[in-house]
Amino acid sequence: MTYTVYINPKRILGQSSPMLYGHFIEHFHRQIYDGIYDPQNPLSDADGFREDIMDAMRKIRIPILRWPGGCFVSSYHWKKAVGPERTPFFDKAWRVEDPNTFGTDEYIRLCRKLSCEPYICTNAGTGTPEEMSDWVEYCNLDHEGSYAKQRIANGYKTPHKVKYWSIGNENYGSWEIGAKSADEWGRLVKESAKMMKHVDPEIELSAAALPDIDWNINLLKNCSAYLDWISLHGYWDMVPEQNHLADYEQCMAFTHQIDRAVQDVRGILTALHLEKKIKIAFDEWNLRSWHHPKVHTIQQGIHKKDYLDPRDKNDDNSSYTMADAVFTACFLNAMNRNCDIVGMANFAPILNTRGCIYSHKNGIVLRSSYHVFDLYVNYLGNTVIDLWSENKTPEITVKHKNGEAIPVRQLDILATKWDNKPGMSIAAVNKHRTDSQTINFCMETDGRSFHAVRYSICGKTENSYNDIDRQEVSIETAVLGTCDRQLTLELPPHSVHVIQLL
Ligand code: AHR
Repeated sequence: MTYTVYINPKRILGQSSPMLYGHFIEHFHRQIYDGIYDPQNPLSDADGFREDIMDAMRKIRIPILRWPGGCFVSSYHWKKAVGPERTPFFDKAWRVEDPNTFGTDEYIRLCRKLSCEPYICTNAGTGTPEEMSDWVEYCNLDHEGSYAKQRIANGYKTPHKVKYWSIGNENYGSWEIGAKSADEWGRLVKESAKMMKHVDPEIELSAAALPDIDWNINLLKNCSAYLDWISLHGYWDMVPEQNHLADYEQCMAFTHQIDRAVQDVRGILTALHLEKKIKIAFDEWNLRSWHHPKVHTIQQGIHKKDYLDPRDKNDDNSSYTMADAVFTACFLNAMNRNCDIVGMANFAPILNTRGCIYSHKNGIVLRSSYHVFDLYVNYLGNTVIDLWSENKTPEITVKHKNGEAIPVRQLDILATKWDNKPGMSIAAVNKHRTDSQTINFCMETDGRSFHAVRYSICGKTENSYNDIDRQEVSIETAVLGTCDRQLTLELPPHSVHVIQLL
């Protein structure tokens, strides 16, 4: 049965920020060392950054890159990773030695090469308000005080001018080093935010949060005057201990209420009349959690190989199928729909582990989720417009990993336009594992006709993936010709599309 969608570009729902397509990179496994920072590799530039990886990052126009963690940050001391003397330290979060050769200045240099905003997450685990605000001094003061003078002595006369800062990472969780209670958190964030904004009132501050009333009420009652953002994280296929990844249908079950956390926090912000002042930064998200078994296990008899070797399982490219592409598109659609309150989202991580780019000594693999970012940042508009249907919304019943039968919407459609040029661009996802779906788009066009082009990510099967010497998932282009008020398309199963009407 054809599903008819009406689109009215005059009904603007919101302006979505390019920062919805942000990314995250952490000192974990091969994201930094032997990842983006690989000075010995002939594929790296004079600064030690992999050119091939940076080219792939540039193609998806990263707007903002969050660093250095993640759990890593909660016992990280930035001062030991600037200047000529770098002392390796034992990273107590991930239980490995960090050489400290990639620190603040290398990170800023990387962001400049990628033309993206830096976004620094500070240590609110073992760190202090003073250490956090010293970091702002080092990055943002011209020359006042000892830290700006250190930066100049390290060769960076011009301030790094880091605008985006986050206080802490998941300090609400027992797994986090320096975990805090809601009361402790409110006080620590307030004192840290005070000092950081005294150094540079121009910075924008976020703080670790989750869709929990007590945590957020305490945080916001203490700190709303100092905060510009509130941070959320989300991983759906939780496999930190057992690498038993959800199959395609189980992943589709995760798309049910995919923006639940956003709606919960929206409610709290609105109840406190803060929804216009504080935006949501969904600054870690991915369908799949990272696999790092036994890292929090402190019982005797657990050896390094028990928790270090299994991390390589994140590198299995066959894990990242059309399920990852479809989920990624549904998440990005949801964030666009909530663009009035979600101002940033950071895919976790961008490189290796569960990232959209996989790197090896001789090159890279663009995983299925990478192509969704390519599709959205390069072909979708930045102004969300209204769409509706008078048909019954097609639903599919899929089995959740917990065995429950979950009814999810089969289609996920987002209509957009640009704020600086005519035309429209529609993202359309068909989640069905086997069935195609015909869609009839009816558009208010003021008598205009359009040149229509469809950019699609389909995969041969729902389990298609890319690997070294295997290319099953990419963007295919189809020129559809001229259309006016109507456009009828068939969406293949397990597929993501952006249809441009210019
Ligand atoms: O699995 C990686 C971790 O996931 C990140 O370091 C942390 O922020 C989140 O819990």
